[in-house]
Amino acid sequence: MVINIEGLDFAYGAGKQTVPVLKDINLTIESGKITAIIGQTGSGKSTLVQQLNALLKPTAGQVVVGEQVVTSQTKEKDLAPIRAKVGMVFQFPESQLFAPTVLEDVMYGPLNFGASQKEAKEAAEKALSAVGFDQKLYEQSPFNLSGGQMRRVALAGVLAMNPETMVFDEPAAGLDPAGQAELLQLLKDLRDSGKTIVLISHQMEQVLALADQVVVMKDGQVAAAEAVDTLFSRPKAWFEEQHLDLPETIAFQKEMEAAGFTFDHLAKTGADLAAQLKGQLDLSKLGGDHHE
Ligand SMILES: Nc1ncnc2c1ncn2[C@@H]1O[C@H](COP(=O)(O)OP(=O)(O)O)[C@@H](O)[C@H]1O
Ligand SMILES: [Mg+2]
Repeated sequence: MVINIEGLDFAYGAGKQTVPVLKDINLTIESGKITAIIGQTGSGKSTLVQQLNALLKPTAGQVVVGEQVVTSQTKEKDLAPIRAKVGMVFQFPESQLFAPTVLEDVMYGPLNFGASQKEAKEAAEKALSAVGFDQKLYEQSPFNLSGGQMRRVALAGVLAMNPETMVFDEPAAGLDPAGQAELLQLLKDLRDSGKTIVLISHQMEQVLALADQVVVMKDGQVAAAEAVDTLFSRPKAWFEEQHLDLPETIAFQKEMEAAGFTFDHLAKTGADLAAQLKGQLDLSKLGGDHHE
């Protein structure tokens, strides 16, 4: 399912109190890929992703989700199919937990969308297992869990509804490094199982490792929307203008290029960069210890 945003403007509030935020957004979210959305705080990332499942409706222009068109005129009752297709995982999703047990919390979504008790339980168990949640804790209160476990329950709650597209607003924020690595692996697994993933992130290393496509937001507008390799091939000065950091490997490669080295492709990892450098350097002319 493709999502198209066409000529979208969005302002918060109504009447004289409006705060214009998004301006003339045209974007395609491609099916089966991970699209990362980056940009400075306040650039409109969270506002943009809430258009994808019509939590916020456009002030002008439209969002086309699969077959369905959302405009400022679309009625609330017509939005349910979109909410079922596009699942939203907010920043600190554990704050959305509410049920007395983990299992009931995750079953809530499917039940709400019309599943039977049996179907909802199956969907919940499948989702909890997909996020690596320990079966022994299904009957626990979600509020007695560790931060990482709570977040898994919250993710499972969205996954259990089996949306075609899942949107994550800074999902790794506040997790320890091990928790972050597990979460990133989960996003990759979801993509590889055919889901479309939209991910807001301010961690460039994460974007480089994970994203297929990247959207750069600046002051409520799209500054770039392209493949991850194309984006990071842009000059260093461009990233400075956007107030964006570069991943370390990319920054190093750009320094080397400025010093006169040429590379045949963008190195996404240190190992790739080292391999490309080795092809250019005559190691026998370098000093240091050589092990024959
Ligand atoms: N509910 C709201 N009412 C009015 N303005 C808002 C609201 N939410 C966000 N904004 C404003 O919209 C702009 C974009 O915010 P946001 O989408 O949260 O950006 P980001 O996620 O990139 O940090 C900011 O200037 C912010 O102050
Ligand atoms: Mg935000």
